[in-house]
Amino acid sequence: MPGYELINKEEYLECKDVLKKSKTFFRMGFGHLRKGIYKVELFEKKFSEHINSKYALGVTSGTAALRVAIASLNLKPGDEIITQAFTFVATVEAIIEAKCKPVCINIDDTLNLDPNELKKKITRNTKAVIVVHMLGVPAKMDEIVKICKNKKIKIIEDTAWGCGGKYNKKFLGTIGDIGTFSFDHAKAITTGEGGMVVFKSKRMFLAAKAWHDHGHENNPKFPRWEDTRKSSGFNFRMNELQGAIGLAQLRKLDYIIKSQRKVYSSIWNSIKKIKGIKLREYSNKCYISADALIIIVKSKKLSLKCRELLLKYNISTKILPEAYTWHFAGKWSHIQELRKLKLSKNLKKSEKKLSRAVSIPISIRFTKKKILDIKKAIQKALN
Ligand SMILES: Cc1ncc(COP(=O)(O)O)c(C=O)c1O
Repeated sequence: MPGYELINKEEYLECKDVLKKSKTFFRMGFGHLRKGIYKVELFEKKFSEHINSKYALGVTSGTAALRVAIASLNLKPGDEIITQAFTFVATVEAIIEAKCKPVCINIDDTLNLDPNELKKKITRNTKAVIVVHMLGVPAKMDEIVKICKNKKIKIIEDTAWGCGGKYNKKFLGTIGDIGTFSFDHAKAITTGEGGMVVFKSKRMFLAAKAWHDHGHENNPKFPRWEDTRKSSGFNFRMNELQGAIGLAQLRKLDYIIKSQRKVYSSIWNSIKKIKGIKLREYSNKCYISADALIIIVKSKKLSLKCRELLLKYNISTKILPEAYTWHFAGKWSHIQELRKLKLSKNLKKSEKKLSRAVSIPISIRFTKKKILDIKKAIQKALN
């Protein structure tokens, strides 16, 4: 259930601080105006504390978070970054924007990056892996971390879906070197548009912080217009209204995840006996954030039938099957940099898995009747 469903007085009061008191939208400076109110800075601090990360940087979107994360790795044009075939197009766009080469590999039954495929696809040019905890289920992080450690390859966890989820009791996004988050309108917590990048290394954090602000080091010894710099950069700064909403939403994150998990269990318990469905795989190391419940049926025809029947009961699906061409690398022939790689040929295995998947959205507003309707729709589709 996206945080937007819970937007209320708390978000309003946080924003009121900015609009009535500090009257400052910029995340830094303007000390004479802002009456000590620094919402983005506080959001970063609280977010870090919540997920036990060392450093956090607020940015303008989950896509920006990925781009900033890559910038902090100081890679050369043409360096390879491996990611998975099932993700949103943003993951690959960020790699291409950084002038690196995207290598999209097959998924396993978790529908995330397959560690066995990863072993095969690493080359001398592989410098980083972006593993995506797609739609709230963690990838097999133990195996992925082991492989990357051996080869000295950096791990970015794209945690756009998965904020508040855990693996081996560690929050997703804090297992690899860098974690990226999205707070767009459809995510577990939202700031309208927005994102966060979390780091273990202070050096990478500082590099990212400067890069997301045109290279500004925000050196306290100098006024901003004479600020020191070592790298180029861009502008991906989060603004104070986003920070304010983020603070209120963050306080609801635990409740959101617990509620999502509860609804997820209720749906699964009501449909698990239906013949011909399997739950997307995940191990007991996972504390899923339950952004969606994905079932696997026997054919693409049946997955489309499930969507058709769900829609009849006024229940939509979430990404699978309807938006899968935006989330499967084998279909991205519109991206020039991918076209020549002929990905669809190598990703047949992933395509087969994804074409049989049906993703049911989770909302805490789901009533018992809604859950019963989901059951009826799936039952009818599979009969
Ligand atoms: C896996 C993944 N990564 C990154 C993003 C980008 O996030 P944003 O929409 O905040 O740019 C999304 C957005 O849905 C996503 O699904």
